[in-house]
Amino acid sequence: MSISESSPPVTPLYGRMAVIGLGLIGGSLAMAARHRGLATTVVGFDRRDSEMHQGLALGVIDEAATSAASAVANADLVVIAVPVQATDAVLASIRDSLPENATLTDVGSVKGSFITSVVQIWGEVGPRVIPGHPIAGSEKSGVASSNPELFAAHKVILTPGLNTDPGALARLTEFWRGCGSEVLSMSVSHHDQVLAATSHLPHLIAFSLVDTLAGEKDNQDIFRYAAGGFRDFTRIAASDPVMWRDIFLANKTAVLASLDHFTRDLAHLREAIDGDDGAALQQVFTRAKAARDHFSKILSGQAYLNTMTTQQTRFRASPGGTVQGDIRVPGDKSISHRSIMLGALAEGITEVEGFLEGEDSLATVQAFRDMGVTIEGPDQGYVRIHGVGLHGLKPPRGPLYLGNSGTAMRLFAGLLAAQPFDSELTGDASLSRRPMERVAAPLRTMGAVIESQEGGCPPLRIQGGQALKGIDYLLPVASAQVKSCLLLAGLYAQGETVITEPAPTRDHTERMLNGFGFPVTREGAKARLSGGGKLTGGAIDVPADISSAAFFLVAASITPGADLWLRHVGVNPTRVGVISILKLMGADITLHNQREVGGEPVADLHVRSAPLTGITIPEDQVPLAIDEFPVLFIAAANASGDTLLTGAEELRVKESDRIQVMADGLATLGVTHTVTADGIRITGGGYGGGTVNSHGDHRIAMAFAVAALRATGEITIEDCANVATSFPDFIALATQVGFQLKEESV
Ligand code: S3P
Repeated sequence: MSISESSPPVTPLYGRMAVIGLGLIGGSLAMAARHRGLATTVVGFDRRDSEMHQGLALGVIDEAATSAASAVANADLVVIAVPVQATDAVLASIRDSLPENATLTDVGSVKGSFITSVVQIWGEVGPRVIPGHPIAGSEKSGVASSNPELFAAHKVILTPGLNTDPGALARLTEFWRGCGSEVLSMSVSHHDQVLAATSHLPHLIAFSLVDTLAGEKDNQDIFRYAAGGFRDFTRIAASDPVMWRDIFLANKTAVLASLDHFTRDLAHLREAIDGDDGAALQQVFTRAKAARDHFSKILSGQAYLNTMTTQQTRFRASPGGTVQGDIRVPGDKSISHRSIMLGALAEGITEVEGFLEGEDSLATVQAFRDMGVTIEGPDQGYVRIHGVGLHGLKPPRGPLYLGNSGTAMRLFAGLLAAQPFDSELTGDASLSRRPMERVAAPLRTMGAVIESQEGGCPPLRIQGGQALKGIDYLLPVASAQVKSCLLLAGLYAQGETVITEPAPTRDHTERMLNGFGFPVTREGAKARLSGGGKLTGGAIDVPADISSAAFFLVAASITPGADLWLRHVGVNPTRVGVISILKLMGADITLHNQREVGGEPVADLHVRSAPLTGITIPEDQVPLAIDEFPVLFIAAANASGDTLLTGAEELRVKESDRIQVMADGLATLGVTHTVTADGIRITGGGYGGGTVNSHGDHRIAMAFAVAALRATGEITIEDCANVATSFPDFIALATQVGFQLKEESV
């Protein structure tokens, strides 16, 4: 949890700050407090007189004390900055002079041992004892290395207890924030485990490796020829030996656990080398590389929030352009979400190829990481999920933020309704307006406890620990998201869950569950499964997304002379409405090399320019082309005659009101149309340019980029950042085939 991140205070937070131990950390903290005006007076004590004198001379401290006891008398902040093993003696020496209202903190790398020392001296941990640990340092030591900026932009972990005085905690938090740090909070034991793995073990390995090599016969040569990697890797072996000796002894249990784990893994690598097992080596190195590439995201536990597009962008699409080439669009969004969900719930490892690295599916990845699932990657579409089984999810630390993704929110609602823990699902402004009662209501019938906000909108608060029972449910709307949500809840429910759909919707959940060994039967409009059982991890090849291919199918159809191949596109019969509708309009699209990959039909699509004619879109095609209408409206604007869409009121509750937002854009371009409650009539013909607003809807932004191929003027499209939710490389692929399209920051 990040406690605070605002700007530094102007008035001193403490009157008298005592720093016991003027090494690198103590000296730097004293200096930071002085430079930043965080304490009126900073008094220092160090058992070495020379350090104290130097501290005074360098302006690290205001006053040098003659003893630790005299340093802390009258202080309101006391910082213990001595090696861990010296803590006992220092605390004993200040026991009788520590003012009752003073805050006592430390900066050591091990928090459990500090607490043990405090209990030994005072018999309890008082409300103003707040252990701390700045994650900052350097291989330098001594007061002469003091650097008041050492903590700026670094993390500081505080480990308050249940009885900690909130006022004292708030003030200490402000103090560190005043040093430029980001303050985090966690329990003592969690801190010690995390640091054993991320800091203590690497130091041990660095010390050990340098020592081993220094003892080799030809050590001169080894060090002389050691390249940058060795130098980088072993930099920390120049750290203070006494400090590190104490850290290992103080954090013995956690360090030994990490060390044993590492030793086992190292032994496996030894075996692999000895046995010429290249595959085993490659597997470990690939896994490590993927983890390292995503290191900061994994560590922060905030990948989605940190990487999500906050920078607003606009597209400028010049009129004209060509559509030529041979491309593969990114992976299918629906299948990508499901691959992570089922992979996480499966037993064993699931390896995914072709995963869509868009913000929506990354939100799903992050949500599972937040629930304790290890997910490596994504790395160029490769993801490796360490499944935890149906009952292995852990309670998330906070609300699960799902960005723009309706699929994620609705599917998670079903899954989380069945978990033993509470959860909360939140999203961005668009998602926060979308209807969730369509999932909450049937889930409640199954026994779930779910609270939505006004109008049935997110956030959703789900109370865990409910025993669900199966449901026999006729979907009021043809929605694969609602169907999938209920099937996921049904995995945990007692008895049978039967979902009947009024019209066929995408069936990726059913196919993938069967692929994971969990039987789902289909009889006509009914999907049926029984709760219990398990999922078994495996391999998933995500085909290219037909919803992303759709932009290029229309682009090539309307652009004279166009000739384009789209490779490895998913052509599941529940998704091919866009091809059927375009063909009815006269498009020249052919399917080649049709095959089945991991239970999903796939083909290479060849599309060439063809004259389009307006049609009445058959209503049974609407759910099969539900995401493709924005770009189909552009096809209609380029067809001769009228195209009529009916039975598509669902479009009004997608990422935007897609009927109205498209109509507004078409009006700007001068395309004749009439909006109805459940559709639109569009009269084809030429159109001009202008500025249209996508209202943050990715598919509307891309649809108007396609429109520019036949416009007579430039089309500027506002609010395009969300294209990254489903098609992060859209601009690059579109320009590759001949669009004249640029993105600019706003
Ligand atoms: C999706 C189902 C569709 C679709 C959405 C993805 C899915 O929504 O619009 O983009 O992955 O299940 P509905 O099923 O609610 O129409």
